[in-house]
Amino acid sequence: MKALVWNGEKIELTERPFPVIQHPRDAIVKVTLSSVCTSDLHIIRGFVPKAKEGIVLGHEFVGEIVALGSDIKNLQIGDRVSANCETFCGECYFCKHGFINNCENGGWMLGCTIDGCQAEYVRVPYADRGLTLIPDNVSYKQALFVGDILSSGYFGAELCEIKEGNTVAVIGAGPVGLCSMACAKTFGAGKIIAIDIDEKRLECALKFKLADYVFNPENCNLEEEIKKCTERRGADCVIEAAGGNNTFELAWKIARPNAIIAIVAMYEKNQTLPLPQMYGKNLIFKTGGVDAIHCEKLLEMISRGSLNTDFLISKEYPLSEILQAYKDFDAKKDNCLKFAITY
Ligand SMILES: NC(=O)c1ccc[n+]([C@@H]2O[C@H](COP(=O)([O-])OP(=O)(O)OC[C@H]3O[C@@H](n4cnc5c(N)ncnc54)[C@H](O)[C@@H]3O)[C@@H](O)[C@H]2O)c1
Ligand SMILES: [Zn+2]
Ligand SMILES: [Zn+2]
Repeated sequence: MKALVWNGEKIELTERPFPVIQHPRDAIVKVTLSSVCTSDLHIIRGFVPKAKEGIVLGHEFVGEIVALGSDIKNLQIGDRVSANCETFCGECYFCKHGFINNCENGGWMLGCTIDGCQAEYVRVPYADRGLTLIPDNVSYKQALFVGDILSSGYFGAELCEIKEGNTVAVIGAGPVGLCSMACAKTFGAGKIIAIDIDEKRLECALKFKLADYVFNPENCNLEEEIKKCTERRGADCVIEAAGGNNTFELAWKIARPNAIIAIVAMYEKNQTLPLPQMYGKNLIFKTGGVDAIHCEKLLEMISRGSLNTDFLISKEYPLSEILQAYKDFDAKKDNCLKFAITY
């Protein structure tokens, strides 16, 4: 079968043997759509030390089950499924508490430490936990982002403990930030403020009715603008989904006293926490690699029409052109948000 392999230096589209069931809780999925994620680029750039050379990349996908291990009772061959970007056993201390990102037997494995989904078929370990049935009225396209960036956006909104009517500021209007805005609405957010230095992305936030206000901190005094929209208090909740050089600082500066700040972004550099300056502001910081435990709920919300991520797919590429897709994604060609790889 065709597969996109990272050989430690570069990526190549090559031939690989079909995956087989290795464990009773495995499933083999025929991939119908996958996506390229910023984390895939992190691997290629050498920022993911645990990534194994020679693996098939990719962890964001949907597909059809073609083979099942003998212990799997909740899924059937032929089922249309959405895959969780994290592998988790469901039985260890962390899984039992919902903290699946820290599963003692899993974590980010697909497309990192074991072969991932940018191939015609993929083996999914602990598939009884990691695969979620897609409702009949939800298409593969609609379900594509459920197990990774939509879960991450939802996670950011959930960490903020949004109360009805709260003003939520989201720093970064990339795919994750935009998903956070969509999810914040479902938690009852009042006003949503999108913040980015990329005007095109701010335009998207407005066009898709995800934000009420948009600001580019390079063109305004952001703290002052946020005060103007919040009766001079500051944002009730802040989701940091940019990971830029100064965005951690922006996050706590635009938060009102006693706000919750959720940090979903992954930084490449250390950040400063100036406690003397913050003293008395009584802020709550939460950080996280996504605990993607709400896939079923997110699919139900898509099925009901209360969530929609279709707007994120800027272009489709067949698997045979995936090398071009990586290049274009990395270059943010034509202001793309996400690509779907078709099979
Ligand atoms: N915690 C998790 O589990 C998880 C999961 C997925 C992604 N992530 C992280 O979330 C972040 C967002 O992911 P994405 O796919 O949307 O990435 P992205 O790079 O497409 O989006 C980031 C956005 O932040 C903006 N930005 C950068 N610097 C800025 C600055 N100084 N001020 C304002 N805006 C700025 C960019 O213009 C861009 O639109 C990344 O750091 C990614 O690694 C975390
Ligand atoms: Zn990802
Ligand atoms: Zn576990």
